[in-house]
Amino acid sequence: MSPKDYIDKNKKRFIDELIELLKMPSVSADPSFKKDVLNTADAVKDSLKNAGCDLVEICETPGYPIVYGEKIIDSKLPTVLIYGHYDVQPPDPIDLWDNPPFEPVIKTTEVHPDGAIFARGACDDKGQMYMHVKAMEYMTANNDLPCNVKFMIEGEEEVGSVSLEWFLERNQERLANDVILISDTGMISKDTPSITTGLRGLSYVEVEVTGPNRDLHSGLYGGAVANPINILSKMIADLHDENNHITIPGFYDKVEELSTKEREKMGEAPFDLEDYKSHIDIPEIHGEHGFTTNERGSIRPTLDVNGIWGGYIGEGAKTVIPSKAFAKISMRLVPNQDWREITELFKKHFENIAPSSVSVKVKPHHGGQAYVTPIDSTAYKAADLAFKETFGKPAIPQRSGGSIPIVSLFEKYMKSKTVLMGFGLNSDAIHSPNEHFGIWNYLKGIETIPYFYKHFTKLKMNS
Ligand code: BES
Ligand code: MN
Ligand code: MN
Repeated sequence: MSPKDYIDKNKKRFIDELIELLKMPSVSADPSFKKDVLNTADAVKDSLKNAGCDLVEICETPGYPIVYGEKIIDSKLPTVLIYGHYDVQPPDPIDLWDNPPFEPVIKTTEVHPDGAIFARGACDDKGQMYMHVKAMEYMTANNDLPCNVKFMIEGEEEVGSVSLEWFLERNQERLANDVILISDTGMISKDTPSITTGLRGLSYVEVEVTGPNRDLHSGLYGGAVANPINILSKMIADLHDENNHITIPGFYDKVEELSTKEREKMGEAPFDLEDYKSHIDIPEIHGEHGFTTNERGSIRPTLDVNGIWGGYIGEGAKTVIPSKAFAKISMRLVPNQDWREITELFKKHFENIAPSSVSVKVKPHHGGQAYVTPIDSTAYKAADLAFKETFGKPAIPQRSGGSIPIVSLFEKYMKSKTVLMGFGLNSDAIHSPNEHFGIWNYLKGIETIPYFYKHFTKLKMNS
């Protein structure tokens, strides 16, 4: 039976199973969801067993467990390692959801006339991860698994994959593979399949600015004492110049500059600026001088405030000069920038620009390196052939602005290439209220994945 026929027969069950998984609030960032995160790991383990894995295991780590599964049919055949994550982002702000985030509903949208499942994690990454589980089910149920397969599904991706390096160090042999396949990115549009060939790195820091030792009456002290929120705002504003360049000394020193030819090639990918603006309701675009919107969002590094707080934010007005102000800042990095080095540069600069009227603390959170993959690898070719089978056209290589820090760690520890076959759309609202995943995309993913296995095995055996 072809993948398509099998999917047609089992469609309803495939959707129902994903819905059950989405009901589990596996929010890794918030300790109050700990039980749910652990239960989700169990559910993923069971699903791998049911899909035909011979061995499944919950692997303990210093943090949330990693779910491991495998089916080894012949040690002479290649091995595909599937990576995904079962944890999700916090659903906040909950008020902005049209339906509760962990009570999945199917609704149609303009881009998803066949319906989309609305729930936190629908696209990132439960829906995309589960495509691999169902593709595995298809292959084992139809005697169509052409090679060995290993699954490694983690529960801390959304908080920086803190235990993953620990796990990789200790399990290199067990995880040995010929290629790593991940669906945790997007595609350009439903009729433009794409393979993500680059991810940005990340440095995430939190800053604290302290003025007086307690909150002060803003009349009695106002004007005579540094207000940490005023100061922090100015310091943050000064991190970009009038061309929207980042002002941290040395920040751009190692940035990989693309050739005109490469940039021209990138510019050929379909992109409509008016659509882009109208989808997110912005009156005008913004960004680093000298680069296009696509370039700003993929091949250029950034610095963004993700949250800022301090002082009085309750109902009504309270006259106060706060003692402290805080911000969470992320820097998206590009190839050759080292996240630890950038974190250091940030820290030094931020301490440097602080006026002597306040004290500042910089606390680094997590980080990760950027990644780019060649488009002439066996892995890329196999993914491209798979897309051709199910979309009738080749995939477009695309560098994404998002980060999956473990991809560069995989290369470091396992020396194997990663292929990113994403099926999400930008409009799927990952990390936002009303996240959803198109049913068409979900089923198309399940259909396409077995062809990757087939072509990869063939190409590998012939090389
Ligand atoms: N799946 C995303 C990353 C992504 C999405 C890459 C779309 C490309 C296209 C992943 O779950 C994610 O959100 N990563 C975080 C980084 C992590 C260290 C918290 C990110 O990019 O913010
Ligand atoms: Mn993800
Ligand atoms: Mn995510």
